[in-house]
Amino acid sequence: MGQDSLKEEEIVELLSGIENVRLNEDESAVVIVDQTVLPGKKELLELGDAKALYDAIFELKVRGAPAIGICASYGIFILAKQIQADSGETFYKKFKEAAEYLNSSRPTAVNLSWALRRMEDVVKANISKSPKEIVSLLREECRLIQAEDAAMCKAISEYGLSLLKDGDGILTHCNAGPLATSKYGTALGPLFLGKERGMNFHVFSDETRPLLQGARLTSYELDQGGIDVTLICDNMASIVMKNGWVQACLVGCDRVAANGDAANKIGTSGVAILAKYYGIPFYVLGPSSTIDFHCKTGEDIVIEERNPEEIKCKFYEKPMALSSVKCYNPAFDVTDHNLITAIITERGILRAPYTESLKKAFPERVIE
Ligand code: MRU
Repeated sequence: MGQDSLKEEEIVELLSGIENVRLNEDESAVVIVDQTVLPGKKELLELGDAKALYDAIFELKVRGAPAIGICASYGIFILAKQIQADSGETFYKKFKEAAEYLNSSRPTAVNLSWALRRMEDVVKANISKSPKEIVSLLREECRLIQAEDAAMCKAISEYGLSLLKDGDGILTHCNAGPLATSKYGTALGPLFLGKERGMNFHVFSDETRPLLQGARLTSYELDQGGIDVTLICDNMASIVMKNGWVQACLVGCDRVAANGDAANKIGTSGVAILAKYYGIPFYVLGPSSTIDFHCKTGEDIVIEERNPEEIKCKFYEKPMALSSVKCYNPAFDVTDHNLITAIITERGILRAPYTESLKKAFPERVIE
């Protein structure tokens, strides 16, 4: 999808009704739904400076790979508006500093650097123009990034739905729904689309320790969308699979390497191993903005390690372990491409060997 592929009316249409990440009325701040207080409270936050944007991403107030990218692109637009510069060059220098700061907030989801690079490319390509003109082009680009994401999620949802049957039991891990993207979501997209078409699915949502995105966000989104959802602890995935209640696993992704290895929320690879054991298809759903041809394999993907206190204390009234106890808290793991039945992108359902199918689907992105 490129700059020319969406017309202004299509952008407006695709952006209508999106609440989770948007600009405020006078375009001085990014408005997000604070994902850390859901489902108990629905609170909107206005992020108008670099620190507020960085903290919102770092603290997972806005989370999910595509939503992080969208928020960062709107965020850098807001920061670009605040830059005082009398030439394109000076403007670019300050823009780059701000982009690097935002980019350092989380390392694994490639959508963050992908979106910031797209915004930077706009500045570089228009460096001879005035800062005012560049800012106006940046505004177009961040709206386009979000509109494209909505279109990609819709296409992914269509492809994903084509693999499911009415009445199927689905297991998902973490949250890859509308809150994590723009509309529909990726892993949850086929379920929402199917619901619109009168299909019914029975979804098992892993709670997803330690930050409980499955419990707090996935079961909330599905329940609100009228989709039958049963919340399970992460260690219950095996029993629901063994009972024959799961016909497919659908998960999102934060970075897909050129060979199809896919990083997603910690615990995803365990689900994939279980699915293989029980003979259940394991699908990874994600837009092209999540594919990173710079990473040859999953070995090249940087895994974010977060504060151990998230395991012991976060979301609990009392600490769940002694403060002296050590914790290891990687936020993501990499699912080996051999465990993945298909990678579902906006350009279709890709099958192994992924090195070839990814190249074929995205020839313009390949790095030799
Ligand atoms: O740490 P998080 O909550 O940002 O992790 C999110 C995930 O792992 C999602 O599955 C992934 O970003 C895909 S969202 C469409």
